[in-house]
Amino acid sequence: MAGLTSPTGAPHAAILGLGTYRPTRVVPNAEVVEAIDSSDEWIQQRSGIKSRRWAGPEESVQMMSVAASRIALERAGLDPRQIDCVVVATVSHMLQTPAVATAIAHELGTEQAAAFDISAACAGFCHGIAMASDFVRAGSARHVLVIGVERLTDILDLNDRGTAFIFADGAGAAVVGPSETPGIGPVVWGSDGEQFDLIRQREDWRDVIASGDLVMPHLTMQGNPVFRWASFAMAKVGQQALDRAGVTLDELDVFVPHQANMRITDAMARSMKLPERVRIARDIADQGNTSAASVPLALDRMIAEGDAKSGDTALLIAFGAGLAYAAQVVVVP
Ligand code: UT7
Repeated sequence: MAGLTSPTGAPHAAILGLGTYRPTRVVPNAEVVEAIDSSDEWIQQRSGIKSRRWAGPEESVQMMSVAASRIALERAGLDPRQIDCVVVATVSHMLQTPAVATAIAHELGTEQAAAFDISAACAGFCHGIAMASDFVRAGSARHVLVIGVERLTDILDLNDRGTAFIFADGAGAAVVGPSETPGIGPVVWGSDGEQFDLIRQREDWRDVIASGDLVMPHLTMQGNPVFRWASFAMAKVGQQALDRAGVTLDELDVFVPHQANMRITDAMARSMKLPERVRIARDIADQGNTSAASVPLALDRMIAEGDAKSGDTALLIAFGAGLAYAAQVVVVP
């Protein structure tokens, strides 16, 4: 039997650069309340959202991804030809196939990088970071571009009071590559498919077509059970990610949870007993919940506003449809 060589990669991986794209249109609560019989006060009290960003016609999944990626590449000091794998986490690329990652890789000018999409909803970016870290350390790729991107307004029912005021659009990208020291801790991830129906596309496309009523099968969410699950179960996952990375609460600088709801963020911070000193991402207030894009958007904003600095230790945690979740500690680029 012929002997095979085993792949070998870098000793460690890290995020080398981060970039984001926020749609230009700002949509205040006042613009969404009428269609869902709600109020600015209710939305702010229950979710912490004051306004959100919704994409215009030109701000496609591909366009927002490329814009975010160019910034991430520039900050990482890399040329697109040095990227050998592109992973795109999204649920709002509207073609079943091919993956939008291939078009993004081409538009960026990579040299035929491996490119594929992953479907892990709001947890997608943290799944992508975990995979990229393993690819780099195993030698499957040297530099991986991980993108979290959503144009959820394409699949939102603007008359649905359970979702219309929460979800939004945007993109975040991270370049993951080799590092002398550990920059991405072990992932803690999982899923609870028993709760498959809590956040989902309302109907299977085949049922929509069979019904003859060609209406987009929108996103639906039973918000309250998701809220309770996220507020309690996710704090434990966050603590596990800290433990697996060997980082104590005293060593943690920044907490970047998925921007699902300000009250979930507060409940997690309380359950985890985060010290006052730890800076917490609160991007949701004027960005809304951008699913796979929310963690990179929130972290990038903290860097821009001086709340996170290069070398800081940050706990990332994301959760959503599936229900799927993933968390890891990273060093801020
Ligand atoms: O990103 C993926 C993961 N997603 C999440 O983590 C989201 C988790 N869920 C949530 O963020 C929250 O559940 C929501 C913000 C969606 C809703 O907040 P809630 O505190 O769970 O509200 P609720 O669904 O329990 O409803 C409370 C009340 C109800 O009225 P009654 O029965 O108390 O009279 C609802 O009918 O609020 C009413 N309500 C609304 N009122 C005004 C429900 N939706 C609305 C609305 N505007 N849009």
